[in-house]
Amino acid sequence: VTIFVPRETTALALGADEVAARIQGEAAARGVEVELVRNGSRGLFWLEPLVEVETAAGRIAYGPVEPGDVAGLFDAGLLEGSNMPPLCQGPTESIPYLQAQQRLTFSRIGVTDPLSIDDYYAHDGFRGLRRALGREPQAIVDEVKASGLRGRGGAAFPTGIKWQTVLGAPAEQKYIVCNADEGDSGTFADRLVMECDPYLLIEGMTIAGLAVGATQGYVYLRSEYPLAHEIFNEAIARAEAAGYLGADILGSGRRFDLEVRLGAGAYICGEETSLLESLEGKRGMVRFKPPLPALEGLFGQPTVVNNVLSLAAVPFILSRGATAYADYGMGRSRGTLALQLAGNVKRGGLVELAFGTSLRELMEDFGGGTASERPLRAVQVGGPLCAYLPESQWDLPLDYEAFAEVGAGVGHGGVVMFDDTVDMAEQARFAMEFCSVESCGKCTPCRIGAVRGVEVIDRIRAGDNREANLVLLGDLCETMVDGSLCAMGGMTPFPVQSVMKHFPDDLQR
Ligand code: NAI
Ligand code: SF4
Repeated sequence: VTIFVPRETTALALGADEVAARIQGEAAARGVEVELVRNGSRGLFWLEPLVEVETAAGRIAYGPVEPGDVAGLFDAGLLEGSNMPPLCQGPTESIPYLQAQQRLTFSRIGVTDPLSIDDYYAHDGFRGLRRALGREPQAIVDEVKASGLRGRGGAAFPTGIKWQTVLGAPAEQKYIVCNADEGDSGTFADRLVMECDPYLLIEGMTIAGLAVGATQGYVYLRSEYPLAHEIFNEAIARAEAAGYLGADILGSGRRFDLEVRLGAGAYICGEETSLLESLEGKRGMVRFKPPLPALEGLFGQPTVVNNVLSLAAVPFILSRGATAYADYGMGRSRGTLALQLAGNVKRGGLVELAFGTSLRELMEDFGGGTASERPLRAVQVGGPLCAYLPESQWDLPLDYEAFAEVGAGVGHGGVVMFDDTVDMAEQARFAMEFCSVESCGKCTPCRIGAVRGVEVIDRIRAGDNREANLVLLGDLCETMVDGSLCAMGGMTPFPVQSVMKHFPDDLQR
């Protein structure tokens, strides 16, 4: 009997190793043969540790399983996939949370053993790479352009156009840099790719290298993800040994090498130019643009800087074709978005959906409302630099343009929910405080503005000259938006302004 127990950070934090050990112990004590596979997570975090049992009718899911549940599960027929409430969730693929998703990028997470190349291959892995190897660079770039894929790090710049700029830049050496400095609040999708389906990112980066003529790739990974680091490095070693990376990819004579570099915990190193500085061994300070990294990036050479999710979308596009990807979505937002439900939510986890679903459907149908069961009051989509949305905006479709129209952002897809006990003035203060701590210090509106912002909000909350200080806060926000060099200072006012606009009473208490 094959049993799956995830080896992924969230599942491990909830006791997956202990559950796995108990399953082995119980099987040995009962004299039954069990093959234990440490798969990735399905991203259904409220059910972790999610144990799956392979049966003739497919995989049956049980969760959340605690170590103390294991003996009872064996007694009740775990190995036969018996339907025993309340832990049995039925066939994994039929769990509504999973069944209602459109998993294109995340089709393999939790299904496969993340480090098994055979498993990856058996589930359509490296098909995109094989197709890319048979094509001219321009044809690969054209396919990505036609898919409509836009940067999933948050800025939504068309990926194919970025690649075109790098392809067209003459240089001896070009680079592919993957931004895995996933720093937004509530986000974990990059980590899931690297821990649960690492060859997907390796494949996406290799295709990017073939497309633009880059032979060296770097993944800039945040140090807070030690398991992703370990799994991804092992995947690189195995991919090299199997000929998918290195001097002669699958005998094609084409080269691509890949290395991981660890960040040191600075949020600003997720901004592409300070990331490049940090990769070069310098302090993570933002560079002026232009020149664009696409023309003068790492070590001054043309460089593709893409988020993990952008690169992870590419193998599907190359293997199934641009149209198959572009068929999903709405307007100019094509394909799928990896939403990450977090904060005060009953069913947190990864929800990959075509653009166009409303925020309310996401939070209610998938999220199941708040964990506290109190009324939902605000939601922050897109990380600490994006707006808080009040209920009047929850019917907005998840679409870059629809969100931009109301001054909100989709960002990297993080969705952090708050119930009615939230103090929105405190959240506004947090935005300024976060910026004051994380600012790289290069420009005045951000370096000084954020510190003044905290002080002004404190005065407003203390009732000190409130009306005048609210006007001052409005002016300060405008100055930061207009005068900051990068998105850190330039977007910090968005959550503050959204509180002033939609939750003004909280600033009057
Ligand atoms: P941006 O709009 O300046 O640039 C977007 C990308 O397009 C960059 O890579 C830029 O170099 C490239 N680009 C622009 N014009 C180009 C051209 N003609 N040819 C080739 N490439 C071109 O946005 P920026 O400052 O890079 O990112 C801001 C975004 O980052 C925000 O929207 C925010 O949501 C997101 N963000 C994401 C975080 C995360 O953890 N994923 C954390 C914080 C912010
Ligand atoms: Fe640095 Fe802030 Fe200016 Fe960005 S806005 S360059 S983080 S000081």
